[in-house]
Amino acid sequence: MKILIVASSLNQESKSRQLADELELALKDKDDLEIDLLDLKEADLPLCDGGAAYEDERVIAAKEKVEAADGIVFASPIYVYNVNAAMKNFVELTGHSMKGKVAGFLCSAGGRMSYMSVMSLANSLMLDFRMFVLPRFVYVAAEDWEGSALKDEIKGRIGEFATSFQDFVGRMLD
Ligand SMILES: Cc1cc2nc3c(=O)[nH]c(=O)nc-3n(C[C@H](O)[C@H](O)[C@H](O)COP(=O)(O)O)c2cc1C
Repeated sequence: MKILIVASSLNQESKSRQLADELELALKDKDDLEIDLLDLKEADLPLCDGGAAYEDERVIAAKEKVEAADGIVFASPIYVYNVNAAMKNFVELTGHSMKGKVAGFLCSAGGRMSYMSVMSLANSLMLDFRMFVLPRFVYVAAEDWEGSALKDEIKGRIGEFATSFQDFVGRMLD
């Protein structure tokens, strides 16, 4: 089983990247699992133009990672009640390679009020790309951090998410 974690924040001190790292740690010791982490800060993808961008070698490399994965975890900051633009752009560029795979969400937000913000992307993943969305996601707000460290309770929730996600991908592969 292969799981791709996509971290979409372009901020060098990204909190959602920390969530992605914590998930990678939680998945690391599980059996029969390969993990890949794609950080969009480093991928330097062009903006989707619906044309030439699909031929860009950076886009092709990202698409190959998506194609190789059975499940994709979207680790995104919440910007203006949605995932950030870099994540939306990533889906515009590679979404057609996500068909039939499992999706999951880790979100870092400022406050608790944006809890439903990933639902518009989740709907698109389900309806455009026939993805199966894990109905449990990790939503972290500013108060869930102690300075720059995640509170233990949230680490526990990421551990539960890791187990649920692996289980869900496994069921879809059967
Ligand atoms: C442009 C912008 C828009 C934001 N919009 C929201 C929002 O709608 N709801 C919210 O709870 N936080 C919002 N925030 C706060 C971020 O979600 C929060 O700082 C998050 O931890 C950033 O994740 P990152 O460090 O991985 O980039 C916004 C921040 C920025 C810069």
